[in-house]
Amino acid sequence: MLWQDEGMIHIGAEAEVRIGRWLGLPAIKKTRIPRTWRHPDLDKRLTKRRLDVECKILNKLLKENIAAPRILELNKDEMTMIISKIEGSPLIESLQAGIVDENVFFQLGKIIRNFHEIGISHGDISTNNILWQAGSEPTLIDFGLSKNTIEVEDFGIDLHVLEEILSASHPEYEGAMEQVEAGYLSQSPDDVIDIPAGLLPTANEVIKRLQDIRTRVRYHD
Ligand SMILES: Nc1ncnc2c1ncn2[C@@H]1O[C@H](COP(=O)(O)OP(=O)(O)OP(=O)(O)O)[C@@H](O)[C@H]1O
Ligand SMILES: [Mg+2]
Repeated sequence: MLWQDEGMIHIGAEAEVRIGRWLGLPAIKKTRIPRTWRHPDLDKRLTKRRLDVECKILNKLLKENIAAPRILELNKDEMTMIISKIEGSPLIESLQAGIVDENVFFQLGKIIRNFHEIGISHGDISTNNILWQAGSEPTLIDFGLSKNTIEVEDFGIDLHVLEEILSASHPEYEGAMEQVEAGYLSQSPDDVIDIPAGLLPTANEVIKRLQDIRTRVRYHD
């Protein structure tokens, strides 16, 4: 057996996550579980789609040299994926424990821009889906809702989702979002980048869109 199980670390609405070793390497086994309340066929299709999406995105990140788990083994029949373990713990825990260094929000903004610069929106940037340990940069995980896109709206929404979570769950970190924005804008904020899918919005355009989204959301509240 390549996989040596060391136990369950997470049971979520969409997935069960176990920790262990794969050929001796620290690894994570993620099994997508269909939600029972939906129509079973539709359910299977959606679950499979999320697994496919996550694999496709992980492969692209590897190719583009962006820090992310590596796929070690894939079993589509069992909806299981074994990926390399990323060091650190979910940022939500470090924020609650008060052990983050100030730089983490800035670095996070930079990393989100790196994703956008290769035409990927993460789709679910919560502090559960960011792993961090002292002395390292944060790493984004969980790509079941990610997509290939060059739309400024998708990138703006990525930042807005994070902003909502920061203000709802971590209000004591005042100025966190300003740091995320500063990190996002820290590399060539006005460069128009040409990727195979088309021209990407500049970092400044994305931040402007974030401001529009905020206004829109407030207006609807
Ligand atoms: N590569 C990894 N390295 C280290 N820890 C991981 C890794 N992948 C997942 N985890 C841990 O497992 C947790 C859940 O994984 P993930 O976010 O991928 O699943 P999920 O889709 O959010 O599940 P659900 O949405 O059902 O809660 C993460 O928050 C993290 O703590
Ligand atoms: Mg998650």
